[in-house]
Amino acid sequence: MLLLAAALACSRSPGRDPAIAIDLDIDTTAAIPPAKTHHMGREIAQTMHFTGAPWLVRESRQREEDCRMLIEALGIKRGQTVCDLGCGNGFYTLELARRVGPTGTVWASDIQVEMLRMLVENAAEARLKNIRPVLGTPIDPRLPKAAVDLVLCVDVYHEFSHPDAMLARVHESLADDGVLVLAEFRGEDPAVPIKPLHKMTKAQVRAELGAAGFRLAREFDRLPWQHLMMFVKDEGAAGPGSPP
Ligand SMILES: C[S@@+](CC[C@H](N)C(=O)[O-])C[C@H]1O[C@@H](n2cnc3c(N)ncnc32)[C@H](O)[C@@H]1O
Repeated sequence: MLLLAAALACSRSPGRDPAIAIDLDIDTTAAIPPAKTHHMGREIAQTMHFTGAPWLVRESRQREEDCRMLIEALGIKRGQTVCDLGCGNGFYTLELARRVGPTGTVWASDIQVEMLRMLVENAAEARLKNIRPVLGTPIDPRLPKAAVDLVLCVDVYHEFSHPDAMLARVHESLADDGVLVLAEFRGEDPAVPIKPLHKMTKAQVRAELGAAGFRLAREFDRLPWQHLMMFVKDEGAAGPGSPP
């Protein structure tokens, strides 16, 4: 009886709601090539460690980055399927979940399970159930194919150790009119107080995304520190991974 009570208490505790259980089912047999150090002339930044997660929810983030303006600029609609790729502890995931509403879905993918555990705790506290946390690998965010309306990467893309593979999988995951949105700290702007490796220039983003079969559809230039660049699939281009 005592054991049953303990099991029930445990299953009801925040973060253990099966509606937002983490999908941990990665293919452990898939070979992951060595991490790249450079990509198209850019040095790739180290992954932000999960112990740094409090920085993502710091009190000054709204003032410094105007996160509300960023999310407004996305034009999220109720019922959409979106993905917060490199979601960290879920700072943006929760707001995306509110905006797509109960008929929508937010896939939240990250390569650090500790980040996903924090996200699940935060989602449970906010009573949000339309989030699908998924453990990704450095070469695969494990998203459904041709199904996602919008993939959001905030302060993430410059950390991808295998950008080609990640962009190829994102390309496959997007619906025909799906959008990939990158928010990257402005590499051209010395006033943005972020380490250079964690910044990108517009020219570099355009070159890398263009090579991966994406076309720039729109830019939003009013954020205090970041570029916000929206890409669609460039059907005229050789797709990612196509033969030369
Ligand atoms: C600087 S944090 C940003 C977190 C979140 N997007 C935010 O703005 O609050 C970068 C996150 O990207 C994740 N990341 C790095 N490479 C990744 C990959 N290949 N796939 C998924 N997540 C990745 C890291 O684990 C980390 O949680």
